[in-house]
Order: sequence, then C-alpha cells, then structure tokens
Amino acid sequence: MDGNVSDKVLSDVHVFTPHETLPDTDGSVNRVTRFYFGLPSDVCRELSADTVSDTSDPNDDGELLFDDDGDVLVTRKPVTENKQVITIEHMMETQLDDVGLQVWQGCLLLCDFVLHLHKEFKGSKVLDLGAGVGLTSIVAGLFAECVLVTDVGETVLSASERNITLNKPLLGEDSTFRVKELHWLKFSGPKLSCSDMRGCRFKMTEDDHRLLNNVSLILAAEVIYDPDLTDAFFSMATQVMSRPPAKTLYMTLEKRLVFTVADLDVVSPAYEHFREMIQELSGLCVDGVTFHCCQIHCDFPQYFTYDRHKHLELWQISSTMAE
Ligand SMILES: C[S@@+](CC[C@H](N)C(=O)[O-])C[C@H]1O[C@@H](n2cnc3c(N)ncnc32)[C@H](O)[C@@H]1O
Repeated sequence: MDGNVSDKVLSDVHVFTPHETLPDTDGSVNRVTRFYFGLPSDVCRELSADTVSDTSDPNDDGELLFDDDGDVLVTRKPVTENKQVITIEHMMETQLDDVGLQVWQGCLLLCDFVLHLHKEFKGSKVLDLGAGVGLTSIVAGLFAECVLVTDVGETVLSASERNITLNKPLLGEDSTFRVKELHWLKFSGPKLSCSDMRGCRFKMTEDDHRLLNNVSLILAAEVIYDPDLTDAFFSMATQVMSRPPAKTLYMTLEKRLVFTVADLDVVSPAYEHFREMIQELSGLCVDGVTFHCCQIHCDFPQYFTYDRHKHLELWQISSTMAE
C-alpha cells in the first residue's frame, strides 16, 4: 500500500475471493463478497437455537438475491452446522485515501484470532480502530457486549454501518454496535475534536467517550502503511490505553516489500517504522502506565479463507496500571 495518493491499490483478498456486483447502488460501495468461515466447535454449540444465519453451502456460488431497493437479501435459517457466512459490501480497486473500502488480508487474520480467542471477547467492550467496512467488528460482535466501530469519514463509516445491518441475522438481537468517527490525526486526549462531524450521526457523544475509556480490548487490522499515520495511530492508541481499565490491543499488518532506487534493494519502510515504534513502546512506563509489546505466533486455526503467509503478522500491545 505504499505509493502516491493518486495510485490505485487492490487488496489480494478481492483477487482471490469471489465477489458479485451490486446493481443500482449509489456508486460509493459497489461489490458484495460472501466471506465463508468455520466456527470453533464450542462456539457452534453455544450459539443458541434462536440465533439465525445464512448457512449456505460455501461451494455453492449461487447468485446473490436482492430486494426491490437493490439491497442484498440474507437468507435466515437456524444454525445447524459450523459453516457461516458474513456478507460484505465493499469497493474493489481504490485510491490510497479510500483503502478502508476494501477488505485486507490482515483483517481476515484478525478475524481468525478473535474466533480463536472468543472466550476473552465474550461479554467484553471492544474498540475497532480503522475498522474499514466492518468485517473485524462484525466477528467481534458475535461475542462482545458492545463494539465501538471507528474510522474516518462518512463514506467508510456508512459502509460499515450498512454491513453490520446486513449481517444482523447472524449477529442476533443482543449485539450492540456504535459506528463513530475517531480520527487519529485529530485525537486530542479525553475529548475528541471532530468539528467537521458536527451534527453528523457518526460524531462521538459523551456516552461514546465513556465507552471509549471503558473498553478492555482494542482491534486494529492493517493500519500500518504510512509513517505519519503510524505515528498518529500510536499517539492516539497509547492515550486511550493509558486510561483505566487496563487494555489490550491486537493488531495485524502485512509486511509489504517494495524495491526502491534510493536503497537499490527491497525494503519495507512502513514496517520498519512500525518496528521502531514497538521498540520505543516496549517496557515504557509513563505516569504509572506500563506498555508491553509482543508478536503472537500465527499458529492458531484458520477459520477464514485467505493466504496466511509469513509476512502477515499479529502483535499484542498491553497497558497495565500501577495500583
Ligand atoms: C488498509 S485499511 C484497513 C481496513 C480494515 N481494518 C481491514 O483490514 O480491512 C486502513 C484503515 O485505516 C483508516 N484510517 C486511515 N487514516 C485514519 C485516521 N487518520 N483516523 C482513523 N482511521 C484512519 C482507513 O480509513 C482505513 O479504514
């Protein structure tokens, strides 16, 4: 994802996953992909009989059905097997500014990890940073009490809101989501200044601020691709994580290699910058808050379909507070 803002980028996820074109959309989000995934066997048993979902055969790439307004129809059947599907509306190739409208490989890795760690997520309050079209949030919402789904700009926030609605049959009535703007570059401590969101339904309310403070788990998939954004991300994340209760951030990224004439070599500047930030943060203690960072081995089961290659990484950053 390195490159000029005018360059177009396309996620590998969309190259290898079947997608369908939505008819008659407003042009902002124009593809639909069905992401099939397995459930850990204990989760399958736990999902109550009144939870409903689409249990279509993953090998059946039958056509999507649409209602008169062009909305995707999600079929409703009781959970009878552990194959599930999440339907996501998204874009294909986008400019760098709109990468949130695509789904990235690290998102699927993080979804796998949430499924693997579902007991930790059960009943928790979760913050998703740079949530894009909302896939990780939706998976977290299968277990969490509440998910604060955040990103920047109305287009991507509307897309995640729409995808959450689309997957309500899988999520059940109890799941709670709040879709809100949290702009890393405008984050200024306990209060957020999002003046350009004034009057907009995505603007954080006092109650959203309270939830932001109270989350215990934070997710961030594929938010490392630009050094300035990485600095803003770490500045914001460490401020949020400095407020009790102690918090754990799980983040995924893909180490993207590029050849540069300046280096006459294959390098990964975004990744190297990330590692510098991790090194600075590891063991850092500020005002009684200590940060711990470690890489998590990706040897847990794979529930989604994607290429889990060696350059896809998962990191854990935790904050602990002095008594
Ligand atoms: C590569 S996308 C990842 C989207 C999604 N998490 C996934 O993995 O499919 C990076 C995300 O970070 C968001 N982002 C970029 N700059 C941001 C900022 N300053 N504040 C908040 N979110 C930002 C983008 O809008 C986008 O949704």
